[in-house]
Formats: sequence, C-alpha cells, structure tokens
Amino acid sequence: MEKVRYKASVSDAVSEREKRNRQVAYEAAAESIVLLENDGVLPLVPGKVALYGGGAAMTVKGGTGSGEVNERHSVGIEEGLEDAGFTVTTKDWLTDWRQKYEEGKAAHGKGMLKKMLSMDSSALINIMANPYRLPAGRKITVADVKNSDTDTCIYVVARQAGECADRELERFDYQLMDMERENIRRAVKAYKKVILVINVGSSMDMSILEEVPGINAVLYYCQQGMEGGRAFADILTGKVNPSGALSDSWAKRYLDVPYAMEFADMDGNALEADYKEGIYVGYRYYDTFGVKPRYPFGYGRSYTTFELAYKDARMEGNEGRVEVEVTNTGAVAGKKIVQIYAYCPQGEMKKEAKRLIGFGKTSLLAPGAKESVAVTFDAHALASYDEEKAAYVLESGDYVLAYGHDAVDVIPCVVVKLDETICLEQCEHICPPERKIEELSRKAPDQEILQKELAEGLPVIDWKAADIQTVVYDYSELEESTTETVERWMDGLSVDEMIELLSGSGVMGGKPYLNVPGAAAYTKAYPEKGICSTALCDGPAGLRLQRVSALTKKGQIKAMEMMMDFMNNLPGVVKKMMTGNPKKDTLLYQNATAFPVGTALAQTWNQEMIERVGSAVGDEMEEYGVTFWLAPGMNIHRNPLCGRNYEYYSEDPVLSGKCAAAMSRGVQSHPGCYVTIKHYAANNQETQRNLMSSNMDERTLREIYLEGFRIAVREGGAKAVMTSYNKLNHVYTPNSYDLCTKALRQEWGFDGVVMTDWMSTDKGLADRVQAYESGNDLLMPGGKGCVKEVKAAYQEGRLSLDVIRQCCGRLLVLVEESGPQREYFKSR
Ligand code: BGC
Repeated sequence: MEKVRYKASVSDAVSEREKRNRQVAYEAAAESIVLLENDGVLPLVPGKVALYGGGAAMTVKGGTGSGEVNERHSVGIEEGLEDAGFTVTTKDWLTDWRQKYEEGKAAHGKGMLKKMLSMDSSALINIMANPYRLPAGRKITVADVKNSDTDTCIYVVARQAGECADRELERFDYQLMDMERENIRRAVKAYKKVILVINVGSSMDMSILEEVPGINAVLYYCQQGMEGGRAFADILTGKVNPSGALSDSWAKRYLDVPYAMEFADMDGNALEADYKEGIYVGYRYYDTFGVKPRYPFGYGRSYTTFELAYKDARMEGNEGRVEVEVTNTGAVAGKKIVQIYAYCPQGEMKKEAKRLIGFGKTSLLAPGAKESVAVTFDAHALASYDEEKAAYVLESGDYVLAYGHDAVDVIPCVVVKLDETICLEQCEHICPPERKIEELSRKAPDQEILQKELAEGLPVIDWKAADIQTVVYDYSELEESTTETVERWMDGLSVDEMIELLSGSGVMGGKPYLNVPGAAAYTKAYPEKGICSTALCDGPAGLRLQRVSALTKKGQIKAMEMMMDFMNNLPGVVKKMMTGNPKKDTLLYQNATAFPVGTALAQTWNQEMIERVGSAVGDEMEEYGVTFWLAPGMNIHRNPLCGRNYEYYSEDPVLSGKCAAAMSRGVQSHPGCYVTIKHYAANNQETQRNLMSSNMDERTLREIYLEGFRIAVREGGAKAVMTSYNKLNHVYTPNSYDLCTKALRQEWGFDGVVMTDWMSTDKGLADRVQAYESGNDLLMPGGKGCVKEVKAAYQEGRLSLDVIRQCCGRLLVLVEESGPQREYFKSR
C-alpha cells in the first residue's frame, strides 16, 4: 500500500502559530469595524446589556460556499461582550432565536440530496443557489425588557450570503424584515441607549434611521472572522478607537444605485448584464451625478478628531507623491486614514468627478501628536483610457489633487499642471462588445466649471509631458521562460503526462503525493520523475481546510466534519460514507484561522495590516503543505446585492488592487506559496453565473474591472490568476486571449499560472482547448473526463504541442519552488 503523506497534526492542542494568527485576526478586526453614527453614547462602560437580533444570537463570521473557513472556535458578539465584562441579560430571547434557527435550517435542508442527484453539471455549480436565510426571531416582549434590567440595548442585524446566490432586495436581506423593524422600534421605546450593529457582508438599507428616530449609535461590524466579537467589545468600550472606513458608498435607497432594477434577474433577464453606468461605479457615480449617498465611500468615525494639513507634493516623471500631516486634535489616541483623490481635467474624454489615487494610514497617534503620511502613485493613476486610440492618455490641463476624510469631505490642496496631452501606454484593443452598450450620459454638475473653481488659489506644480515615459506594449508571441530543472522534467514527460498535469485531480482529490484534507483539488504528482503534487485550497477569509479528518485503517483520508455548511443538510447515510470512524481511525487536525472577510479587510485601509494577514495565511500554507491559495477575491462591488461581495474588497479598483497587492506580498513572502487572484474578470453577479454575459465598453473594462487585477500583478507580483465563470462581452473569460494573454501577460508582465474556476469548462460552458490556447494553464478541478477530452484534442491535431509545453512550463516553474517539492524532492 502506498504511503499516505500529510502534514496535518495528530494533536488538537492549541499551537503557538494558532495563537499568533488569532492575534493577527483580532487586530485586523479591530481596525476594520466602522463607526457610522454616534451621538456620544459610545464608548460604553461595561455593565448589564440587553442583546437582541440574529447577529447577537449567532454572529456571522463570514459568508458561505468556497469562502467559508473551518476554524476551531469563533468568538461572537455575545461571548466578546461577556469576556469584556458585560452581563448579557436577554438570554431567553437569544435562546429562542437559536431554536428558531435550528428548526428553520433543518426544514430548509430537507430534500438536498434529491436536488443534487437531479442536477446536470452546469446546474451543480450552483448547488448553493437557495441558501437558508437567517430568521428575525420573535417579538421583544415587555417581560424581556423588564428582565433585562438595563437602559442599554444592542441590536445586531445579521445576514449571510455566499456563492451561487445573490442577495435579495425584499424585506429579509437588503432591507430589514418586518419583525426586525418592529423590534428596533420597541427597543428604542424601551431603552435609553440603543446601539444598532450591522453584521452583514455588504451594505444594506438603513432607512430605519429615519423611520425610528432615537437610535444612538450605529456600527458596521461587517463579518469579522473568529476574533470579531472580541474586537467589537473593545471598540464598544473604547479600549480600541475605531479607525475603519467604508470601502463602498452606501446608497440612501437601493434605487439610487445606477440601473438598480436591472441587476441580475430583477429585469427578467439574468443572462445579459449591460454595464450601462460605464465607469460611473460607486462614488464615481454619486459624485458625478450629484446623488447623495447615505454614507460615502471612505467614511468612518472615530472617538477622537483629526486635523489634516497639506505639506508637500512632487511629480517626478511618472512618479507622484503627496504628503499630508495629520494631528490628533481630540482627547483619545487614534489612527487616521489619509485618502488622496484626483480631479482630472475634463478634456476630450469625459471623466468621473474624482477618483482615489492612493491612501495611507497613521500609526496610533496620542492626543496632540502629529504624523506625516506620504502617499505615492504613478502616472497611470491619473490617466484615462482613450478608446479611439487604444491608449491610456494623460490629457493636458489641471489635475487637482485633494486629501479627504471620505469621498465627499475632500479638501483640494495642489494643482498638477500638465503642459501637453501625452500617450502613457499604447495598447491594442481587447474584448470588443458584440453590440454597442447604451451608456449613461453625463449630466450636472458641470465638471469643467467645478474644476476651475477647485484649482483657484492652490499651489501649482508644473508637470512636463517631456519628462513622462510612454510605454508601447509588445504583443508578439511570448517567449518560454523556464528553468533547467523544468526543461529536464518536460523532456522526461510524455505528452499524455504533460496533459495530465494541466488538469486538476477532480473534485474527489485523486492521489496526491501530499494530502491536504479539504483541498479544492491537486495537481498531479510524478514521484518517479521527482515531481510533487501541489494542493490548491480556498479562501479568502483564511485557508479553507478540513479541520478534523481521519486517516482510516485502509489508508484513506476521510472527513470528520462537513467542509461547507450546506453539506450538513446531506442525509445521514451519505455523511456516514464520507466520514471516518473516530474510534478506529487516526484523527488529523488542521486549525486554520478565520480572518475578517475581504470587505472587512479593505475597511482597515491598512496595507501593512493586510500584508500581515497574508503572511499569517502563508504560515498556515507552509504548515499544511498548501501551494496555491485560491484567494484573494477581488471583483468590484458593482451592486450591493452581489452574493459574493463579502469576499471582495470594494467598489473602487485602486483600493481593491492595493489590498490584493498587499495580500499577495504577504502570502508570497513565504517561498513556494502563491496567491490566486480571482475571478478574472467582471464576475459581479451570482445569478446564472456560469451562463451570463457581463457586457461593457473597453474603457469601463480597463478602468474599473481590470484595474485592480493590474495593480495586484504589478505591485503585488501575484503568481496565479483564476478566470471566472461568466462571459465577458459574450466570450467565456477562460476563452479570452485578450484577457488571459494580451492584458495579463503582454501588458502587465504576469509570468505565473492561470487556472479556470471549478467546472467552468464543463459541457456547454467554456471550451477546453480554447482555454489553453487563450492562456489558461490549468483546467480545474479537472478529472478523468477532462483529461480524456484534452488528449483526444491533441491526437486530432486541435491542440498543439507548443501550447501544451508552454502551459506545462509555466506550471512547473511554480511547482519547482513549491514547499512540498522542496521538502520531499530537493534532497534526492
Ligand atoms: C468558486 C471559486 C473557488 C472554487 C474552488 C468555485 O465554486 O467560484 O472561488 O475557488 O470553487 O472551491
């Protein structure tokens, strides 16, 4: 019998690494919770507290689906408060909620297996399309209030979403449920101090603030991973001063979101999504069209006050820098985010009113203390994509730079005057739309007039076009760049073996050289040729692994706990077949850390912090032998109802890109550990995700939907990319040479591996041969059927050896450096 190798531990004792990473998760959570409203009620002194709402009874730490993390223990809000010295006096209400939840969930789960068996493979991708929505709980009674014996109430609204399903507008997801409204109204009547907490992975309707005046404070908890409850309690008591800020604009009403009622299937057509708002996404829309959001992008309050002052700015060739001095003018210590925006000249090309070009954050400033924050950016951040010229262009004129507390409260500080229009990057066209997209035309306010007013009286920096370097991209064939070892390996592999390497092991896992229980798939091992397998594991809120598994007497690795929440609905017999026997088998443990979700991490606006989270994930990858982390997710928050928003960072490409770059640097600081930035690209809706087409013009695509990926590759050196399920302008993204080769490799210089999303090349979806030819290297999760089809294509002359070698070379270069490869084969 072949030896089963694994790095999972046979002991479940808490390790030093776990403790360290738990602390990182805590610190990230503490910097990410956003204080939205506070009439002075916060911070609170610990005492008795009445706690209500779904998020109080069961705090949602993250979303569902592949973004779940199976951690040892999550500290929710109730536990966090109790640990911090509060006494929760509404246990009856919380217990009743939990009972309702269990009953509702059990009823919802019935019939799951039947449904699974009746599905074809394209529908199987959407197995979680009908998630269980958390209940509101029962009415708060007079007795609840009386027994709570306090004047302080915390009401936590919770929602959980995840892959395969979008959120719903109706009164139980984006909007409050009737019972929630009623209970919040009752709470405001009954208690002197009411704090509303939003435990949701994306924005929601907050009209309750007008409907029920008297709510004293509002916190956006988002979804904070396993240490969220503790971080929350520390924010509540003021032990930690909130320093998080929104990574999205929150609309006053859902209808304020551009083309709100055309999202997903709301207009009766889920298959065609025309991005009619073009580049006007998020604050770019609210700003340019004069629509007031409820909370602007970048908004977040503190228990102290800060003063910002312009210090200096410089433009040197393609590089720019703005320095702002921050003074803590309040009474308690705090951190401050500095956001730098640019109002670009409104020349031939119409532009958004302003855009974020960079940001920074101070350290913890004591009252009265000052710190200078320098934000650097490159010329690309100021350029716009000219569709006629197929080029990023800097138009001559005034670039007014401004520092901001958020996207509305901004203070223009310096004018950069560019003497001549210049082409910054000469590209070729990519991803042409099949038909013209009818786009939003710009109305008031008049940006040109505004621009002049803003520039008045500000210091001026002359920026000479002659000092700026233009890049002309080379689209000629890519050269193979491998290593001696990889060349030797490839010479020793038959074409069939190479083809096998370019497909994953299938969902059941194949026979990896090193087992990582819970891996989403593996690449194949050829131990006799010295080539190790690699494990690919999900994210982005941590490493999604099997927490407890069993090594059976027969030498198999089996689950002990279900990997995804929906699997708990499977009938007992099926679960029994999947799981080991705790009495007979050796139990294996992998204790991964559940970090705050993507949106929450972005709300820290702290690139160093995200890099630390990345490095902590890298530690776990090394410990368990994971090579590819299927994260971070970085699609744009185009609409608040996208079910996977929680996994992604922001509505803004620069914030998204910088977060992903920081995460990539952190993870990849561990040799042989790679991030996989996903889902490339324009995967902004879950409804019919594997059949729908995101349609947009090239400028929108480049400036909004590709920009973050570009930054992650250029600034973070991301080594792997996952293409998406959707079509882009009617071409499946894995089949787009423009995306996978032209933009990614030829323009941005990406030299890593591109893989498809799971089952996205199944029958009737993206074409497998074309996926390789377009620049994908790995078809995931692969499996026998997939390999058979590719082999046949090679034999029939539909797939060339050149393409196979190129893909194989790219994969093996990463395999050569991977941890297990070095550990098991280098010394041989
Ligand atoms: C998701 C990916 C994930 C993959 C592997 C897919 O359903 O879209 O984000 O990485 O599964 O679990």
